[in-house]
Amino acid sequence: MSNEKQFDVVVIGGGPGGYIAAIRAAQLGFKTACIDEWSNAAGKPAPGGTCTNVGCIPSKALLQSSEHFEHAGHAFADHGIKVGGLELDLPTMLKRKDTIVKQNNDGILFLFKKNKVTFFHGRGAFAGKADAGYTINVTGPTTDTLTAKNVIVATGSNARQLPGAEFDEKIILSNAGALAIDAVPGKLGVIGAGVIGLEMGSVWRRVGADVTVLEGLPTFLGAVDEQIAKEAHKLFTKQGLKINLGCKIGKITKGENNVTVEYADSTGAEQTATFDRLIISIGRVPNTNGLGGETVGLPLDERGFVVVDDECRTSLPGVWAVGDVVRGPMLAHKAEEEGVAVAERIAGQHGHVNFNTIPWVIYTSPEIAWVGKTEQQLKAEGVAYKAGTFPFMANGRARALGDTSGMVKFLADATTDEILGVHIVGPVASELISEAVVAMEFKASSEDIARICHAHPSLSEAVKEAALAVDKRSLNF
Ligand code: FAD
Ligand code: NAI
Repeated sequence: MSNEKQFDVVVIGGGPGGYIAAIRAAQLGFKTACIDEWSNAAGKPAPGGTCTNVGCIPSKALLQSSEHFEHAGHAFADHGIKVGGLELDLPTMLKRKDTIVKQNNDGILFLFKKNKVTFFHGRGAFAGKADAGYTINVTGPTTDTLTAKNVIVATGSNARQLPGAEFDEKIILSNAGALAIDAVPGKLGVIGAGVIGLEMGSVWRRVGADVTVLEGLPTFLGAVDEQIAKEAHKLFTKQGLKINLGCKIGKITKGENNVTVEYADSTGAEQTATFDRLIISIGRVPNTNGLGGETVGLPLDERGFVVVDDECRTSLPGVWAVGDVVRGPMLAHKAEEEGVAVAERIAGQHGHVNFNTIPWVIYTSPEIAWVGKTEQQLKAEGVAYKAGTFPFMANGRARALGDTSGMVKFLADATTDEILGVHIVGPVASELISEAVVAMEFKASSEDIARICHAHPSLSEAVKEAALAVDKRSLNF
């Protein structure tokens, strides 16, 4: 059956960029549709995109479960808590993760209803231009033809393939397979020591896998402040992650139950390693397959990203694009901010995204979080700066927690004292970084943070102390 439906705004893609854009557009009074093709195992709609289904949410669920398992095995004893008969129930761990994913899928469907966003389950593709704007065909469980003056493309990204090592999601795994391994692999290989490699490598190491990470670049976490990355490398290595930098990956041969990777190590020596499972996490590519962009002349760059200006406008009037499918960091909160800003721009408002204050978090243990410039960036840009650091070792709450690894680091302008970057490796860095984001949004100085009363005992005192350290007046170190 086919219907024709006219909307003010049609959003293609129901990930964090798309579903948030749709909700905001509906809040602003637009008749809004959102199309998403993701289905769950039962064939039902599963909006939320990569983030909800095979990204942020399930990875954090497994990170939490595996951290509990590790703590029960080692850390609890220090607190005087003896755990006997510790056992991993992987099916329950995976089922819990799936339940959390479903709660999020259902939550988004509920939010669509609440905000009067019409949801279409299927693939959306441009079919041409019409008097009323653009025609979008939906194919999948439902078939429809929609028209709209404003279209927001939010089709996200997919894992990048390594030539010669196709994902089969059984032995050679993308992020999707890495979140659903049904038995702890004895030996797990990971190609790419980026965010996914470290997060998923941590999950499987904590539950017993022997994890070897092969990274192409000679530096560890090159985008992270060097001092923080060095500290993190030391801590992860101590935990048992075998991180090999400067590797050149050669032939990958898949067997019945394992996979062999040939590579040259950092000295150039040829190596061969056999793994039960191999995660390939070497970045992600924008997803515009089957979008029908060519029928309307949607411009893509040489890497396949939809070309947009700073405000997410494409060169086609009324067509916008947000999230992983456009330039900038591939982060859920960046996609969401762009989605909100675009809906507001369509309404004639001044949507706003500050790319300088987008926080990054790597949810390892300890977590790594940062906002703004790294020390190496400031040096390269010739900016005169002051730095202050404070170790969690000197923080009372961290001692009480039994988690004293890492530090907080402030970078501030040498003349004005404006905060230029804050970098944290340590417990719940993901939450602590928010203070720095707010401070930078308000163009605060390190002195501003140093003069704010922080609760005692709290990890946030380490943030205050690092701000004090910029002026060499830490009180507890
Ligand atoms: P997506 O979430 O990819 O959503 C796009 C949606 O569009 C998908 O549902 C897709 O099926 C659908 N779609 C595509 N084409 C069509 C079409 N033609 N018609 C209909 N539907 C279509 N980011 C964080 O900020 N924090 C994290 O902790 C984090 N963890 C991650 C962990 C992993 C393992 C991975 C892989 C990513 C993680 N990310 C994280 C990144 C985050 O998932 C992405 O940045 C975010 O999902 C991008 O949102 P998006 O809306 O642009 O695209
Ligand atoms: P990534 O860009 O973070 O890391 C990829 C790593 O693979 C890099 O270190 C790169 O040097 C290396 N690499 C690339 N090609 C290689 C090769 N041929 N051989 C060996 N190493 C190679 O990408 P990743 O981990 O795949 O994640 C994709 C994106 O998803 C992230 O950049 C991030 O935007 C998002 N993400 C965010 C998370 C978060 O916010 N906590 C969690 C997971 C993913």
